Amino acid sequence: MIPLDSYPKWAPVLDERARRYLNSQELQAYLAIPPERRQSQLKAMLEAPIASFTAVNEVYFRARWAEALTTLYPDGDLKLLEIASGDADCIPQAMERSHPHGSYVSANMNQALTRGLLQRTAGLSLPVRVIEDDAAALATYLPPASLGVIAFQHGVNDVIQAILCDREGVDTIHTDWMETLPKMIAILQREMAQDTLASHARQPFMSLVETLAQRLKPGGKMVMNHYMFQLDLDWGYPPSLFDDLIPIVRSWLTGFPGCREVFYPGFDPHWWLFLERKN
Ligand SMILES: C[S@@+](CC[C@H](N)C(=O)[O-])C[C@H]1O[C@@H](n2cnc3c(N)ncnc32)[C@H](O)[C@@H]1O
Repeated sequence: MIPLDSYPKWAPVLDERARRYLNSQELQAYLAIPPERRQSQLKAMLEAPIASFTAVNEVYFRARWAEALTTLYPDGDLKLLEIASGDADCIPQAMERSHPHGSYVSANMNQALTRGLLQRTAGLSLPVRVIEDDAAALATYLPPASLGVIAFQHGVNDVIQAILCDREGVDTIHTDWMETLPKMIAILQREMAQDTLASHARQPFMSLVETLAQRLKPGGKMVMNHYMFQLDLDWGYPPSLFDDLIPIVRSWLTGFPGCREVFYPGFDPHWWLFLERKN
């Protein structure tokens, strides 16, 4: 597997980032992990599909997103939209520290996960709002040219899975996402075996991205990142899709009107894709 990131870069700064990006209770949990275990967990997380979930993961992903957002939008007044957050609070937690005067909106369809996100972010001073609808419908909620950054934090796979479920009548909104995951994986296996993924998912995905691109200010950025979970692979997620998701989506987006792809040193294009809205 291509490493997600550079272990030599993060190893020496992990403890400092923990103090910066964790609250005091989370920091206690982090410090309870023996130092050499923190380092081995970090290395495993960066160099293999993610198999364990500890305070080390929280430190790394919050710090990494804070770094990405500061690179994409150095000013303090960041208005960010996350697509398909589920209950993952990584970006609002990062923004609380990197852009405390900004604001965060998530477009998230699954109702139970939205409740979880609101609980996890209740203690933040950052303004947090959730639009409980399909991101494809955002034109009715957000004005054009109003956002600095739109982020898919490990959300491209979720959007594609929801598109494929929707066309087969599988409910992903009122159900438990993890209970539905085996069905999603079965659909993905079939799509890959029959080579129909692009013909079934590309057009709805592109139309969603087009709606989103119009919500960006000129010069605003759309960012998609991805990584692999071992559990999904164990449950049969097609490895050729899970590993190559960003390159596959990049091939769909080639020549996408109104935006250009941009690259940043230290963000491997295998795991990160950045689009900039043209003026
Ligand atoms: C497993 S959670 C996402 C977790 C998060 N991206 C992460 O991996 O850390 C999947 C979420 O994506 C949401 N989702 C998928 N497609 C969506 C869309 N088009 N608009 C809004 N939410 C969407 C689902 O409703 C669900 O809440």
